[in-house]
Amino acid sequence: MLKGRSLIDPSDFNRDEFREIFDLAHEIIENPEKFNKSCEGKILATLFYEPSTRTRFSFEAAMLRLGGKFIGFSEPNSSSAAKGENLADTIRTIECYVDIAVIRHPKEGAPNVASQYVSIPLINAGDGGHQHPTQTLTDILTIERLRGDVENKTYGFCGDLKFGRTVHSLIKFLSNYEGVKFIMISPEELRMPEYIREIIKKKNIPFEEVEKMEPYMSDLDFLYMTRVQRERFFNEEDYIRLKDRFILDKDKMRYAKKDTYILHPLPRVNEISLEVDNDPRAQYFAQAKNGMYVRMALIMKLLGIK
Ligand code: NCD
Repeated sequence: MLKGRSLIDPSDFNRDEFREIFDLAHEIIENPEKFNKSCEGKILATLFYEPSTRTRFSFEAAMLRLGGKFIGFSEPNSSSAAKGENLADTIRTIECYVDIAVIRHPKEGAPNVASQYVSIPLINAGDGGHQHPTQTLTDILTIERLRGDVENKTYGFCGDLKFGRTVHSLIKFLSNYEGVKFIMISPEELRMPEYIREIIKKKNIPFEEVEKMEPYMSDLDFLYMTRVQRERFFNEEDYIRLKDRFILDKDKMRYAKKDTYILHPLPRVNEISLEVDNDPRAQYFAQAKNGMYVRMALIMKLLGIK
């Protein structure tokens, strides 16, 4: 069903299509050896115009673990972008060499534009402060592994909800499910963009926008922490003023339930103290590992491999 498609935005796939990906990801986790030749003879390109650790490495490891190969760059200045080549020409060239491509770009909408020039499946690995749908796959797989399914739960989102693309994609995805509630914790200046608020309102999802974390901790099934996105600020002073507004530490964890899980797309800066890492509710590194499995499933589905 997903063969040949691109994943640019969470709205590109319907619930059944996402279900196919998650079911396959769970199967891969149970029995990874079974899939170690699934992508033999296939090549993935990773085109990263912005820094990345987890997203790029997990895509590359995913392809290698499926028996495929990858080519790419992690630094656009090593490609012809440095000579002034436009993205459309680059992607049309890459299409000649590979079966599927992943692209991260600082400009919102760039992967969408690129997808219009090629017929291979293209995956958006983050476009500016806009969307990051494969982080959502990672987040949802983690939620399913911890709690079975995403419905009838209260989700807290904390930090930079304005520029944080992972929360935009996650909220867009979760808004299609029953019984979800959102508590959005951020400084006034870093609130969710209006188009996301509109999606939530249209689906009649209960939500609150608040500026304190402690009073809400005991309501949450998941607390999704995010980094203040320094690279998206117009001036450094605003970043410095806002960067440490929310820090989750052992003290604050005392307000949470025994099964309030802490997620974070990573990288972390100061927003979660290192002392929280040993708490069994801290699940951000498990989340990073799930990212590889779910990307294995995504690659297989987009290539039409059974
Ligand atoms: C996120 C991103 O790139 O948006 N990182 C990731 O892909 N895991 C989050 C961030 O950079 O803060």
